[in-house]
Amino acid sequence: MKSVQLKQELSEVSVSNVIENQDQIVILGGVPLHGEVQVSGSKNSSLPILAASLLATRGQSVLHNVPSISDVDVMCKMISSLGAKVTREDHTVIIDASHLNTSVAPEKYVRQMRASFYVAAPLLARLHCAEVPLPGGCVLGTRPIDYHINAFRKMGAVIIVERGAMLAKADRWEGAKVLLDHKNSSVGATVNIMMAACLAKGITTIENAAREPEVINLGDFLNKMGGRVSGAGTSTITIEGVAELHGTEQEIYNDRIEAGTFVAAAVATRGNVRVCGLSPSHLPVFLEKYQEAGVSISTGDNWIQVQANSPYSGVDISTSPFPGFATDLQPLFLTTMCLAQSKSVIQETIYDGRFNYVPELLRMGADVDITDNTAIVHAVPKLGAAQVKSSDLRAGAALVIASLAAEGRSEISNVKYIDRGYENLTAKLQNLGAQVARQHLPISDAEDVQQAGRITSHK
Ligand code: EPZ
Repeated sequence: MKSVQLKQELSEVSVSNVIENQDQIVILGGVPLHGEVQVSGSKNSSLPILAASLLATRGQSVLHNVPSISDVDVMCKMISSLGAKVTREDHTVIIDASHLNTSVAPEKYVRQMRASFYVAAPLLARLHCAEVPLPGGCVLGTRPIDYHINAFRKMGAVIIVERGAMLAKADRWEGAKVLLDHKNSSVGATVNIMMAACLAKGITTIENAAREPEVINLGDFLNKMGGRVSGAGTSTITIEGVAELHGTEQEIYNDRIEAGTFVAAAVATRGNVRVCGLSPSHLPVFLEKYQEAGVSISTGDNWIQVQANSPYSGVDISTSPFPGFATDLQPLFLTTMCLAQSKSVIQETIYDGRFNYVPELLRMGADVDITDNTAIVHAVPKLGAAQVKSSDLRAGAALVIASLAAEGRSEISNVKYIDRGYENLTAKLQNLGAQVARQHLPISDAEDVQQAGRITSHK
């Protein structure tokens, strides 16, 4: 398709999607991705480390390789609302938390992003009191925080939950033995307890701790602040409390879920892509499953090469905490399995709402049956372009992948979800040869849109 026509195609704005959701991503799919992509810093490493910077009573923390994504914006607003001085220069964030001026976390940030609850630990550890709204559930499911609250109580906090907030006060703040639920070793609970324990009197042990790489990244940061954390990355973490922590410098790991997103996009489009900046050890089972499916995957110390030029088979997966198959990669993997040569069975054991993106895939011609927490994915020869809506961050990424594979023009709305965790996604995909554009139409009201937009004929 001539580039002029292509530009025209991409520039046209379809009215219905834009009225409800001001930004949308338009993709002319069916183009195999090729080339190299450098992943950005990890959202799920940045958020706990930004919160942990509040523990420093002297000096400033300088965090490098922090991604420019909206969840980081929210966390920066959260910690500055508590009194920390936050400055950002490109991908570096500098925080001086020597003076906190409140122990009350603003509701708007916690309701916007669950990880804002991570400020509960530094507030309790430093000020021995905290008022933090409960994050509540999200489209993924209930997402309770009972592990966090139970651990804080064991360490000395008296906690009541009132009007949707955790009100906590601690006359004593001591180390404790915490046993996390074996089935659901929560990353959030693990990192919150690590932060809380650093300034507690005595030793804290966390059994059945989450082993995700972001836990290791946080453990390194806390130790460089003067903390005494050992075992981060294993299922038993020990923290010896100290009197004070100071600011320090830290490099944020690159984002393993973003890397997995580009691997899946290469597979879905039968492309040939090198994903740079990530150790394959951060995606253990995920890469093995694609190799089992017959996708050619080669790796180096910090790159993953995907050559998906030939058909691949369906393979079964079941999500589990690290080093198992990450739940965040499930929507991306399932989308590629729609285009396999045979059936696959996808079991989701972490969230009861993590198949919420499948109905939108069905509108693109996927053939998926869901019973409880299991999806049976029947192979289809291709997906069809459509207007689709993302319902959460990884659901949006899955719909981008499906649209890249589907011939014709797709439009993905609710791009705000994608912006939560992906930096410059459209630019990175364009550099891999994708025909993709992002559209924003400042809407005064529907009439403006009717005049400004044109309904395009979808192939
Ligand atoms: C982290 O969330 C990630 N977020 C999530 O990534 C990820 O999906 C999740 O870990 C699992 O790997 C960040 O790191 C910021 P949970 P976290 O919901 O720690 C149960 C993304 O797309 N549980 O706490 O908040 C819970 O019900 C996001 O980047 C309790 O029962 O995960 C769930 O089944 C989405 N009680 C399981 O644990 C608790 O107190 C997962 O935990 C806490 C958790």
